[in-house]
Amino acid sequence: MQVCVIGTGYVGLVTGVCLAHVGHDVVCVDKDEAKVALMQSGQSPIYEPGLSELMKSSMQSGKLSFTSNLADGVAHGEILFIAVGTPALPSGESDTRYVEAVARGIGEHLNGGYKVIVNKSTVPVGSGDWVRRIVMDGVAERQELIAGFDVVSNPEFLREGSAVYDTFNPDRIVLGSHSDRAIALMQQLYEPIVNRQFAADPTLPPVPVVITDLASAEMIKYAANSFLATKISFINEIANICDRVGADVTQVATGIGLDSRIGNKFLQAGIGWGGSCFPKDVSALVHIAEDYGYDASLLKATVSTNRQQRWLAIEKLQQVLKILKGKTIGLLGLTFKPDTDDLRDAPALDLIEQLHRLGAKVKAYDPFYAKADAPVPVLPQTACLTPTVEDLAAGCDALVLVTDWPQFRQLDYAQLAQQMVTPILLDGRNCLDPQLLVDAGFYYVGMGRPNFGYARSSQVPSPLLLA
Ligand code: UGA
Repeated sequence: MQVCVIGTGYVGLVTGVCLAHVGHDVVCVDKDEAKVALMQSGQSPIYEPGLSELMKSSMQSGKLSFTSNLADGVAHGEILFIAVGTPALPSGESDTRYVEAVARGIGEHLNGGYKVIVNKSTVPVGSGDWVRRIVMDGVAERQELIAGFDVVSNPEFLREGSAVYDTFNPDRIVLGSHSDRAIALMQQLYEPIVNRQFAADPTLPPVPVVITDLASAEMIKYAANSFLATKISFINEIANICDRVGADVTQVATGIGLDSRIGNKFLQAGIGWGGSCFPKDVSALVHIAEDYGYDASLLKATVSTNRQQRWLAIEKLQQVLKILKGKTIGLLGLTFKPDTDDLRDAPALDLIEQLHRLGAKVKAYDPFYAKADAPVPVLPQTACLTPTVEDLAAGCDALVLVTDWPQFRQLDYAQLAQQMVTPILLDGRNCLDPQLLVDAGFYYVGMGRPNFGYARSSQVPSPLLLA
């Protein structure tokens, strides 16, 4: 099918590349000409495992192209995806001006046959009808020249770092529209994915397709992200109680996660959630609720518990090091999660700011930003980026594991401990084995699990009172 994807951020680019890979004829549009030129040269502007390879092969097979010309994209597509950003405004509301601009542009260039306009951007409930009206405004007096269009809400559930995998192996596809004709075209579009032709396990039953009205599809997106964020804040709250009573939240998570009604995913306690999605979507839903006269107190608590987790990491450092002024703290990981280059609302940024404010020197190592060809990340304060973990550990008073990159599980911690002033590690993701760390010479501090002191008492630095 002829597809146009407008907006080449994480969602738009992954959607465009994957739809081209399954055989559709895709044109991706972005108003950023430099970015378009980069993509036309076969390079992905974002780091996402598997994306570059699929992008290159689809371009070579002629199924994927890039342009900054919206008119060309609109003329090409029978299905037009709107996949531009909806960042949070300072109030927490979602900023829909980019969606509005694209909808107006689509209206101005709409011509020829019937089109399906798909809202892939996460937009406030009710935006489907709003987009229809803006497109109609753009069409203005040319109405008799177009064969009509319908709007579909098709929320995405891709996780950064595994977005390509998630596209080919979705748990479900949600399609919301008032139009049977539009839904039928969308089902045709997704048929290869629904039939698991590109799935890791092609023998699985077809992907469930949930067909709803527009508002319900829009709500599903917010509800899914808010539920997941609440689940993490819930386990973080349990972790904080575990800290007080001496229980281990990782064991508690295993114990509750085996209950099939609860499930074991998204129960990793730690420094909290970040990224471009959970913070923005939970705040937007709080706002939507307020607009309709409802105080979403549970969601507000989800947000405030998450904020606290970042300060808790600082408190834990203060508990073991006391004064932070003049100390050197090394951060293992900057990105908000592994396998991405994304720093949006990353807990590491808040830690850098707070540690800096408290007079500590901050060093940081991130596997993505340590690559020779990686861009220099924009950090809130001076934090010295180190090319290796060994450089990070040298002279540090404590390390904080902020992002659970898998390679952090395999480090030579005994060697790192030797290079530190005091070998203390705050495991902000509870992803390391405390005993291994202790055996390597570390004092291990977890989030919601008992601290583990040094194996050999000779290594205990005198100012430390081990709890
Ligand atoms: C999230 C959702 O998982 C996707 O389904 C959704 O499509 C996406 O938002 C979106 O709206 O675009 P993403 O933000 O990429 O995906 O990352 P997640 O894997 O969900 O992780 C979010 C944050 O929660 C990360 O900071 C992660 O470290 C944290 N997290 C996750 C925990 O602290 N504990 C956990 O158990 C799981």
